[in-house]
Amino acid sequence: VGKSTVAAALGMVAAGRGLRTIVAEVAARDDVSRVLRPDADDHGPAHRTFREREVSPGLHHISIDPQDAMREYLADQLPSRSLAGLLGGSSTFGLLVAATPGLRELLTVGKVWELAQPGRRTPGARPYDLVVLDAPATGHGVAVLQAPATFADAARVGPIARQGRTIATMLSDPARTGVVAVTTPEEMPVNETLALRTTVRDELGLDVDLAVVNRVLPDRFDGGDRRALAGVVATRATRGALLADARARGQRSQVARLRRALDAVPVRSLPFAFGDMDAATIGMLARRLERAL
Ligand SMILES: Nc1ncnc2c1ncn2[C@@H]1O[C@H](COP(=O)(O)OP(=O)(O)OP(=O)(O)O)[C@@H](O)[C@H]1O
Ligand SMILES: [Mg+2]
Repeated sequence: VGKSTVAAALGMVAAGRGLRTIVAEVAARDDVSRVLRPDADDHGPAHRTFREREVSPGLHHISIDPQDAMREYLADQLPSRSLAGLLGGSSTFGLLVAATPGLRELLTVGKVWELAQPGRRTPGARPYDLVVLDAPATGHGVAVLQAPATFADAARVGPIARQGRTIATMLSDPARTGVVAVTTPEEMPVNETLALRTTVRDELGLDVDLAVVNRVLPDRFDGGDRRALAGVVATRATRGALLADARARGQRSQVARLRRALDAVPVRSLPFAFGDMDAATIGMLARRLERAL
């Protein structure tokens, strides 16, 4: 639906307003960095880095890998580097992940939390004013945000419980954490967005702060145009125009349905961008979003 695209555009808006911003991707993806640096030739698995990289003034990017997150966490928590290295090795990591459902999610969101801390754990790193998390799609996205509370409840006492609770407290605090839902103006994604809102309310104690409807087709024709089109000899072009119009009207009714169901939640539309998703296009989407925020 455009989650990564909207995350990149939000990051641009925030950096443009002078906030030191980082867009974080999970599960070792680099869609956001492709969008933010479309002309760079260092994309793909070999170039995904856990390093924080400045992609434009004030705007940074990181691709969070759970194993790297675990290594960094252990190096910070354990007194001995060699012990941390041993436990953070890939075979131990594989065993732990296999034996502990939700551990990947916990490590991922723990790193997201770390990025937002005034006293960073990462040696030499500076804190960010805003962390934009490009979360995985609905179900898995909620699981990532729920992981700290789940672990805190399971452990009850000790450092995991304490840290889990600290992270869960930040994630459920509407003053510090905002949820942006991204959808397209079609029936299924709108249904999913409404279901997401229910889950976010019930499971996280938050609400959706903003819904972005992405890839909205232009409204090209009015009633007179439609009558005129219907009256002319059908050609491929007129049939194409009528089809595009029908789709645009279908989209508009889905946007209206979303607005009604979300009542007080602001709903903002972004246009379907024809052509390449290059820096200029992202800039255009960021400006549209800027006006809406
Ligand atoms: N407003 C737009 N107009 C046209 N194309 C768009 C728009 N927004 C996103 N796209 C395109 O749609 C595709 C999916 O976008 P994106 O990767 O941002 O979605 P996503 O929700 O992050 O997907 P995934 O679930 O795979 O992470 C990309 O090819 C992107 O360039
Ligand atoms: Mg994505």
